Amino acid sequence: MPINQVNFVASFKSEQDCPKTNLPEYAFIGRSNVGKSSLINLLTGRKKLAKVSSTPGKTQLINYFKVDESWYLVDLPGYGYAQISKKKRDEWKKMIDSFLLERKTLACIFLLIDSRIPLQNIDMEFMNFLGQAQLPFVLVFTKIDKIKGKNSDENIENIRKSMLEHWESLPQHFMTSATKKTGSKEIIDFIENLNNNN
Ligand code: GTP
Ligand code: MG
Repeated sequence: MPINQVNFVASFKSEQDCPKTNLPEYAFIGRSNVGKSSLINLLTGRKKLAKVSSTPGKTQLINYFKVDESWYLVDLPGYGYAQISKKKRDEWKKMIDSFLLERKTLACIFLLIDSRIPLQNIDMEFMNFLGQAQLPFVLVFTKIDKIKGKNSDENIENIRKSMLEHWESLPQHFMTSATKKTGSKEIIDFIENLNNNN
């Protein structure tokens, strides 16, 4: 599915402020700095659409992008950023959790996991939250360019094994590199499929 037109709609503080719409939406969530905003830029082929930074905590609000007047990409703040105050961290968590729980038009949530490091407790907790709330989600292993050769498969296999200690089966997963520009087509095809079947 070629993407012709993408525009930034606005940033919102809560679900109540978000567009009143029936169009399908795809939200991107994961630890601060995992590459959510970069992935949105990769998927849309627009380098500067979503704001990216090497410092965690860049995205602080719910950001809406409209694609070809027919679906939305939603860039969310990250979770687990240790360097901000507990108050702010709690605020962000509340904003993210209530958005995901209240938003009825979410077709799928992409949970991003850093493919370079072992699975973090906070990722597992977040996955459990999504599972308990019965929200549809898939996994994206990011930054695969940073791991050498076949180690990438090994790392991802280890992360999946850790997840399988808590889950009987795992959702579909994708592997991406924003720097090498890989993994985009698979995700766009997946989105197209959901758009056509809903
Ligand atoms: P927050 O908004 O702060 O939660 O971060 P985020 O998850 O949106 O991450 P962002 O896209 O801002 O990227 C964080 C850093 O990781 C930036 O320096 C990116 O250039 C880098 N990065 C993102 N994706 C990749 C990737 O696939 N490979 C490599 N090597 N770096 C990446
Ligand atoms: Mg971001």
